[in-house]
Amino acid sequence: MLKYLEEIKEIEKKYFNCSFLDLENANRKVLIKEIDNNLASYLIYNFVLDEAEIISVYTKEKYQNLGLATSLIESLKQKYCNIFLEVNENNIKAYNLYIKLGFIVYGNRPKYYNNKDKAILMKWSR
Ligand SMILES: CC(C)(COP(=O)(O)OP(=O)(O)OC[C@H]1O[C@@H](n2cnc3c(N)ncnc32)[C@H](O)[C@@H]1OP(=O)(O)O)[C@@H](O)C(=O)NCCC(=O)NCCS
Repeated sequence: MLKYLEEIKEIEKKYFNCSFLDLENANRKVLIKEIDNNLASYLIYNFVLDEAEIISVYTKEKYQNLGLATSLIESLKQKYCNIFLEVNENNIKAYNLYIKLGFIVYGNRPKYYNNKDKAILMKWSR
């Protein structure tokens, strides 16, 4: 993973406008998928006991729709009983992915992104 740290930080800055990769945080982990020795997809999450919160999930465009994010999230489901996340109401791809994986909507936060878009709160439970 360490070899991709800088690359992931760059993506986080560019795509999500911040860097969540605080590895000093003992309750934060990063899962990755490689293709041909390249970073293809990653998932950053926090965990406490049997709960995880997905902070960020990203698949490079040329590797999208190959099941990489699905596989990363499925591996979290093996390990944790409850998984939480939030997604921008306009992020249809990600929303559909989470629904496909059994997440349900349990709330929302109006004007959460850029003081404009709603955040949809979702969870999965075993
Ligand atoms: C969302 C994202 C992580 C999905 O990664 P991925 O590796 O391509 O996902 P998978 O191949 O495992 O799953 C694809 C699923 O996404 C959904 N999806 C993909 N393209 C879609 C589209 N154009 N419209 C609607 N849903 C779509 C579908 O549910 C699809 O499953 P299906 O093919 O069985 O129907 C990726 O698109 C991405 O990195 N987006 C930018 C970052 C982002 O928005 N992250 C989420 C923040 S909450």
